Formats: sequence, structure tokens, C-alpha cells
Amino acid sequence: MSETGSRVIVALDFPEEQKALQLVDQLEPSLCHLKVGKEMFTRLGPGFVESLSVRGFAVFLDLKFHDIPNTVAAACDAAADLGVWMINLHASGGRRMMETARERLERHAQRPKLVAVTILTSLSREDIAEVGFHGTPAENVFRLAHLTKSAGLDGVVCSPREAGAIRAAVGGDFLLVTPGVRPKDAAADDQRRVMTPGEAIAAGSSYLVVGRPITAAADPLAALRQINADVTESTLSADK
Ligand code: C5P
Repeated sequence: MSETGSRVIVALDFPEEQKALQLVDQLEPSLCHLKVGKEMFTRLGPGFVESLSVRGFAVFLDLKFHDIPNTVAAACDAAADLGVWMINLHASGGRRMMETARERLERHAQRPKLVAVTILTSLSREDIAEVGFHGTPAENVFRLAHLTKSAGLDGVVCSPREAGAIRAAVGGDFLLVTPGVRPKDAAADDQRRVMTPGEAIAAGSSYLVVGRPITAAADPLAALRQINADVTESTLSADK
């Protein structure tokens, strides 16, 4: 489980292994992490994750576990055995589920970082009301971010738009992993409310999840290097 200094996580959303590996072979493990989600993991299984680790990449296994505490803890244990760098679960699975998962990971000498999804950004106020959550999505995001922190997890996945307020509420020592990032002048694709890499870092993001601006670029390595440069510039200007 190598850890790179980069704050970029490249989302591998490909229907086929060969296409994914073609892209991966153009990237460098020292310049990014890789995210494997439900589609690729379900099609290709743990062997695919191992093939990325063998190439030296730190992998975020984005399977968003949500089940009874023992089952989620066992799934996290299995992910840790695979040697991944980061895993996630749904905070709405509750405190006991999160605490049990975190405790199970402590058995691992090199434990993966464990982060939670609060409220999916695809859900509107009406959607969450229908499943029994009161208040606005933002209110629920903050409540679940606090719960995640008090359950001892490492951080949350959130919109870069929420990052500043969550950072102010929960403090510095908490990872904010943010998708919805687009370099200036890049296509928004199906993302609605995007931020540039520099803006997301300035808002308090710890890691940026970036897919198509890198995976669909004519020169993926150049696109990744440019995003890393934007991140560095934003970090340096914040330190001034
Ligand atoms: O290609 P793009 O940069 O839009 O990819 C973003 C990645 O982050 C995808 O894997 C997507 O599923 C994931 N994601 C997201 N928005 C969320 C949660 C996850 O875009 N709220």
C-alpha cells in the first residue's frame, strides 16, 4: 500500500479492463491514486485491484459499504487484506457500524483510510424526506459528518461546495474527499456544480476525485500533471 504525495485520485470508470489498464499504464503511481468503484469491481473482482497495486498504485476501493456492523467490518477486513489505501461506507449505517469497521481495521499494520459518504449528492430534499431524513441535505451532511468524526473515522466524501463549511465545523484533522472537480475550461460532463482543483483545495478539500478530465484527455499524464500543479499552487498560496 504505497502512499503518494499527490492529492489527486483518478476515478477509473471503464467498462473493460483493457481500456482501464491502457489508461493506467500512461499514469505514474507517484503522481496520483486510483479509484475503483462498484462497476469495475463487480466485473473484474479483486484481481483487478491487485493488478493496480502490483503496478505500484495506491487504490481507493469505492464500494460504499452499508450493512449490519459485523458484515461491514468483515468487508473492510477483506479490503484491507487486498492492500488498498482507502475504503468507504455509508455514514447512515450508524455509529455502531462505523465503529465496528474502524476497530476491525486496527488489526492491520497498514490499515486503509476509512471514510464515509454522508448524503449522496444525487439526492434532493424531497428524496431524503421520502426515506425519512428531516431537514435539508446540507443539515444532514453536517450531522453525519460529525457522527463520522465521533465514530473515529478518517473523513468523509463530500461535494467541494460543502468542504469549506464541513472543514470549519469539524476541524483540520479530518479528510475531505471531493468529486465534482473540473479544471478551468474543462467540460462539466454530467456534473452540475463543479469547482476547479485550486478552488476545491482552497475550500478545504484533502483529496480530489477526478475522472473524465484525466481519463478522457488526449494526454492523460499531461492533464494529471496540470491538476497536480494547480493543487500545489493553491496549497502554496494558502500557506503565504
Ligand atoms: O468523471 P468524473 O470526474 O465526473 O468522475 C467523478 C467520480 O466521482 C465518478 O467515479 C463518480 O461516480 C464519483 N462521484 C461523484 N459524485 C459524488 C460521488 C462520487 O462524481 N457525489
